[in-house]
Amino acid sequence: MDIVHSLIELRKVIAGERRQGHTVGFVPTMGNLHEGHLTLIDAARKASDLVVCSVFVNPLQFGENEDFDAYPRTLEEDSRLLEARGCHILFAPTVADVYPGGMQNETRVHVPGLTKHHCGASREGHFDGVTTVVSKLFNMVQPDIAVFGEKDYQQLTVIRKMAKDLCFPINIIGVTTSREDNGLARSSRNNYLSLVEKQEAVLIYQALQKSKVALEKGGSDFASLRNNAINLLEQNGFIVDYFNFASAETLEPANENEIDIVIMAAAHLGSTRLIDNICVTCRR
Ligand code: PAJ
Repeated sequence: MDIVHSLIELRKVIAGERRQGHTVGFVPTMGNLHEGHLTLIDAARKASDLVVCSVFVNPLQFGENEDFDAYPRTLEEDSRLLEARGCHILFAPTVADVYPGGMQNETRVHVPGLTKHHCGASREGHFDGVTTVVSKLFNMVQPDIAVFGEKDYQQLTVIRKMAKDLCFPINIIGVTTSREDNGLARSSRNNYLSLVEKQEAVLIYQALQKSKVALEKGGSDFASLRNNAINLLEQNGFIVDYFNFASAETLEPANENEIDIVIMAAAHLGSTRLIDNICVTCRR
């Protein structure tokens, strides 16, 4: 595996591969890789000849009081895991490489509508930071396909719209959420949790599952399902940011005739903010 830091070097390596007729798959990450990220590498390998993974903790998508400084940076271990999983190029640029004109002065990419609710409502500017950096990375790597996790369902939906609206000739592939044996969604932020908190954190998944079963049984009283879930979580020490039932396509609040629903949750456990979601196809 090649480890590449600069854009010039990246373009040179990729141009060489392109000349040999190789297709390019791309997995953008912020590093501190776990099995969930590595399943995206597997998907990229299946869909393309050359796999590029970026590791870049993007300051533009963190709010002022968020964990940008504390975010775990583990490039050596990441590089070992990527090489073992068959990744071909690790692209690890600096903030100055990605934002040479200064982060605050450069062009931003904003996706309207889909970014209004859920994480968009509680993390102002977050999705603009994501779509800006992902479009820059798309232009740097120029892949044929790019892989994202359903763990960040809203992010995946926003990126699909951005790629379509901005005519990026890139096929966006979504990969199902990778979970621990008890159901907890794998996340770099799980590393912030104490052992006890890690046991408690699974409750988010359990609350989502409970709501899913209720919907599958024909339930559509979203308000009371939501209250039950929030009560369960708050009784167990969580501070709930949101627990929402939305159209899986538009991310607008679900109506009672909705067939494809995504249930999305975000909650704080101690100082750690966790998110998870589950999709349900309802028979009405
Ligand atoms: P990061 O949180 O590092 O996640 C990188 C990719 O891994 C995202 O597509 C995310 O959805 C996926 N992922 C994380 N945990 C997963 C899990 N348990 N199962 C499956 N996929 C999982 O998301 C970002 O970075 C950034 O916002 C980024 C897109 C890189 C832009 O900076």
